[in-house]
Amino acid sequence: MAKKKLYIKSYGCQMNVYDAGRMADVMAPLGFDVVEAPDGADLVILNTCHIREKAAEKVFSDLGRLRPLKEGKAAEGGRMMVAVAGCVAQAEGAELMARAPIVDMVVGPQAYHRLPEMVAKVERQAGRQIDTDFPVEPKFDFLPAPRASGPAVFVSIQEGCDKFCTFCVVPYTRGAEYSRPAQDILVEVKRLASQGAREFTLLGQNVNAYHGQGLDGGDWGLGRLVRAVAEIEGVDRIRYTTSHPRDVDDDLIAAHREVPALTPFIHLPVQSGSDRILQAMNRGHTAAEYLAIIERLRAARDDMVFSSDFIVGFPGETEADYQATMDLIDRVRFIQAFSFKYSPRPGTPAAGMGGQVPEEEKSRRLIALQARLTEIQSAFNGGCLGQEMDVLFDRPGRHPGQLVGRSPWMQPVHVTAPEMALGSMARVRVVKASPNSLAGDVIPGSILPGVDVGDFSRRESA
Ligand code: SAH
Ligand code: SF4
Ligand code: F3S
Repeated sequence: MAKKKLYIKSYGCQMNVYDAGRMADVMAPLGFDVVEAPDGADLVILNTCHIREKAAEKVFSDLGRLRPLKEGKAAEGGRMMVAVAGCVAQAEGAELMARAPIVDMVVGPQAYHRLPEMVAKVERQAGRQIDTDFPVEPKFDFLPAPRASGPAVFVSIQEGCDKFCTFCVVPYTRGAEYSRPAQDILVEVKRLASQGAREFTLLGQNVNAYHGQGLDGGDWGLGRLVRAVAEIEGVDRIRYTTSHPRDVDDDLIAAHREVPALTPFIHLPVQSGSDRILQAMNRGHTAAEYLAIIERLRAARDDMVFSSDFIVGFPGETEADYQATMDLIDRVRFIQAFSFKYSPRPGTPAAGMGGQVPEEEKSRRLIALQARLTEIQSAFNGGCLGQEMDVLFDRPGRHPGQLVGRSPWMQPVHVTAPEMALGSMARVRVVKASPNSLAGDVIPGSILPGVDVGDFSRRESA
């Protein structure tokens, strides 16, 4: 079969990054190989994000940049098909088709298992294709089994969201919550572990709302699932993201106490430290309730640390509300965070609320909040000096002879080590700390047998 070039650009969350890999998997049997640049590609997929205005606007500027490439390919007698996938496709599919003639296909996040069919239709000149259904059949049943792309892999276990925070588009773009059956997840983990994966990040828009069918036929929560994943041979580390404070239950907390593979780092977005704003956001908890959850998780494991997402300048946010967020940051001491200026999203309740905060005020608040977070992150990294920790090496460093891995707390750790250690876990003593990363020495003899990362390929060529 003649090889074709597929270029995928992903924006937004880890779910989208995961989906990009799966889209490559579904296209592989049709002879599409992933390439690193759009030039000359037979199929370009823009896997878009709708979360904030800026993210959504990128689609149109990228489509503008693709036009000359598509024309160039046509001038040579070829054809570049352009697909828009992801959350902008879901939210604005029809407008996209109308506004951007360059787009051949629009495919929503729940419909991309149908990409091959859509591509075939476009190739047959059967017209432009749009599919933004939420099909009854879960797409996972139609996707080929993923292959390990390295020692640290993602496994999608849950999708969608029923929470309807007043600022957020995700419930509209990703649809209702859906949890994959535990059996399917465990089979996938086993397969990836047998290919050499060591660290498994369980993914979902609301991952700890997981309530899939268990092996015993009953409903399993995330805690139960984590215990089953931990029993699989080769599973050294388990992470999960993204969690909602409302869904942290007793069993998940207990799992953090009892399952050593579960890392002591949780991304638990709080958005704001003000009860008034949390209520207006429809988050379903107070600042005190959030702090109580943090305390319980810390009691389960004393090395537990947290990261979060923050929104500043939500409609009606006063200086006092903002200070409440800063106070919460000081109390939890988040070691990492994503923080954003509130961006009104069409169709969400908050976009129509009174008391929209001026842009300059949002910027001022964001800068000060980020400075505080950076200070705390630097202090945490500084505190790691001289400590020993397990590091899973998952990529080569910038200089020859260097490897980079992740600590249990997600810090990138740079070491000097032979390339053969790539894909392995080792004990590292931290000798240098900077605000964003650590450097260390491998403790001699501590390199656990890993896998030859040279064996990892994104997928088998069809
Ligand atoms: N499910 C996750 C969040 C997913 S969206 C949760 O509930 O925490 C990722 C982050 O984008 C959110 O945590 C929020 O901080 C940010 N975000 C979402 N909508 C936003 C908006 N309209 N303006 C600014 N930030 C937004
Ligand atoms: Fe959006 Fe809220 Fe759902 Fe998170 S929980 S995806 S912020 S609606
Ligand atoms: Fe963006 Fe959709 Fe993810 S809006 S953050 S790509 S769920």
